[in-house]
Amino acid sequence: MKRSCKIFYVLLTTLLIGSLLGCNENTMAMEKEKGKAQMNIKKEQFGTTPDGKKVDIYTLTNANGCEVKITNYGGIVVSLTVPDKTGKISDVVLGYDKLDGYIENNSPYFGALIGRYGNRIGKAKFELNGQTYTLAANNGENHLHGGVKGFDKVVWDAKEIQQDNAVGLELNYLSKDGEEGYPGNLKVTVKYIWTNNNELKIEYAATTDKDTVVNLTHHSYFNLAGKGDILKHVLTINADKFTPVDEGLIPTGELRSVKETPMDFTKPTAVGARIEQDDEQLKFGLGYDHNWALNDYDGTMKKVASVYESTSGRVMEVYTTEPGLQFYSGNFLDGTITGKGGTIYEHRTGLCLESQHFPDSPNQPDFLSTTLKPGEKYSTTTIYKFTTK
Ligand code: GLA
Repeated sequence: MKRSCKIFYVLLTTLLIGSLLGCNENTMAMEKEKGKAQMNIKKEQFGTTPDGKKVDIYTLTNANGCEVKITNYGGIVVSLTVPDKTGKISDVVLGYDKLDGYIENNSPYFGALIGRYGNRIGKAKFELNGQTYTLAANNGENHLHGGVKGFDKVVWDAKEIQQDNAVGLELNYLSKDGEEGYPGNLKVTVKYIWTNNNELKIEYAATTDKDTVVNLTHHSYFNLAGKGDILKHVLTINADKFTPVDEGLIPTGELRSVKETPMDFTKPTAVGARIEQDDEQLKFGLGYDHNWALNDYDGTMKKVASVYESTSGRVMEVYTTEPGLQFYSGNFLDGTITGKGGTIYEHRTGLCLESQHFPDSPNQPDFLSTTLKPGEKYSTTTIYKFTTK
C-alpha cells in the first residue's frame, strides 16, 4: 500500500472511532439526563394530626418510574412500587390510603420508623448508671416500639434530597429528655434514599446530651405478590443463631442454634413450610416473631436476608450494618384492618424484616450494648433492594 493511502486509512479509522466514542458519550449523557428528568420529588398535603399539625406526603420517583411515598407523620412508607418479572409495576407494602388510617386505626406500625427503642424492653424498665427508668407497658407488662407515642406517631421535619442517582427525604426529630420515659435529648436524623437501582436505603443517625438507649428500625410489611398471604414467600436469613424468647416475647438471654429447628432459614425456605409445627418458640410468637443473630457481624454493611416470590418473580434483598433482624410474619393481622384500596389485611398478608440491635438489650448484659453517650454518634444503615428473577 502506498504511504499516502496508509495515512488516509489511519485518519479515517481515527475519525470513525472518535465519532463512535463521541456518540457513545452523547448517548450516555442523554440517558443520564433522561434518567434525571424522570427522577422527581412531589410534595402534597396528607392531612392534619388531631393536635393540629399539618402533615405532608412525598412521592419519590426514581429513573425507572418506581415510586416510594413517604409521609413525615411517623416517617411512614405509605407505598413502594416495583416491577414484577413482566415489568408490571405495583405496590408491595401494606398501609392506608389516608393519614386518618394511620392515626385512627391503631395501625400495627405499617411502614413506620420505630424508636427510641425498636422491639421490646422487658417489664418496661431498664437501669442505666444505677438509675432505673420506667417506660410505658404497652405490650402486656413489657414496653414495645418506643411506647405510647413512639417515633412512628410523631411529626418529623422533612427536607428533600436530590442525588445523582437517587431521590430522598431527610427526616429530623428531637425527642426530648424524658419523652416516653427515656433519658436525654435525642436528636434523630433518618434519611430515606430511593435509588435508580430500586434500593430503599435508610440511614439512621442520632446524638444525645445524656446517656440513653437507642435502637432504631423500620416496620414495612412487605408482600412481594402485592396480594394474598406471604406463606409462599421464600426467605433466606444469614444467621446460624437466634434469640429464643419467653411467652411475652422477651429474649431469655440465650443465643440458640437454628439447626434442625423451624428457625433455620440459612437455606431458602418458604415462610409457611414449618410455621404450624409444634414448636414452643413458634407458639410464643403465634408464628415467626423473633430476632435472628446475623452471622459475621462487624458493623459493616452485609447482605443478611432475601425474599423471593415466584408468581411475581420479585426478589427483595436486605443489607444492614446491624447485628440483628426481627422476622415477623404478620401473625397479628386478622382481617380486622381494611387498608389501601379497600384491601382487607387477613392473617399473615405481610412480613416485616426489621434490622436492629437485639430486643431487651438494656436488660441483657450479654447482648451488644444499645447505650448512646454524649459525644458519640449512633449511625446505622439498612437497604431493601428490589429485583426480579
Ligand atoms: C413487631 C413485634 C410484633 C408485633 C408487631 C406489630 O414486629 O415484634 O410482636 O407487635 O411489631 O404488630
